[in-house]
Amino acid sequence: MRKVWETQGARAEGGGTRLSGWIAFLLASALFLMAPGRARAESASATSHPRDARAIHRGRKVFNSNCAHCHGEDAAASDSYYNLPQLLADKSDAFFFHTVTHGISSKGMPAWGGILKRGQMADVLAFIRSIEKDEGITGD
Ligand code: HEC
Repeated sequence: MRKVWETQGARAEGGGTRLSGWIAFLLASALFLMAPGRARAESASATSHPRDARAIHRGRKVFNSNCAHCHGEDAAASDSYYNLPQLLADKSDAFFFHTVTHGISSKGMPAWGGILKRGQMADVLAFIRSIEKDEGITGD
């Protein structure tokens, strides 16, 4: 019994050496592949903001303290003139950033360019898009 166990052990050890060679090789290639991958992920987040639960949560806070008294608590204004998830469903992200930054003075929509950071606007947009998604609001 013991003898069998030992031979198996020895065989496994031999395999182990080959295996750790493979692991080292795989690790090295993984690191090599991950390096540019991480750079890509970083540059992507600089242009496209993450829309995860945390961004949505932050956006909701920014929204409720800056936008809610016109656009409704949690963006749920019952008046469709003010309801952003409905208004924005068929509009681009670029339109959102432009409008929020510069406002629409003729309609009484304030400009937020000097007040909110772009990241905060992106959080607000993440929040609004999440409502559109939850409520199945589409552009048409
Ligand atoms: C003082 C009231 C007021 C506040 C505060 C306000 N808005 Fe507005 N907003 C308006 C009015 C009025 C309009 C024009 C509504 C329309 O055309 O249907 C508007 C329009 C918009 C639009 C364009 C909607 C479209 O599709 O035409 C966006 C985007 C928007 N607001 C975002 C925001 C955000 C984000 C905030 C908070 C940072 C905010 N607003 C705060 C009054 C306000």
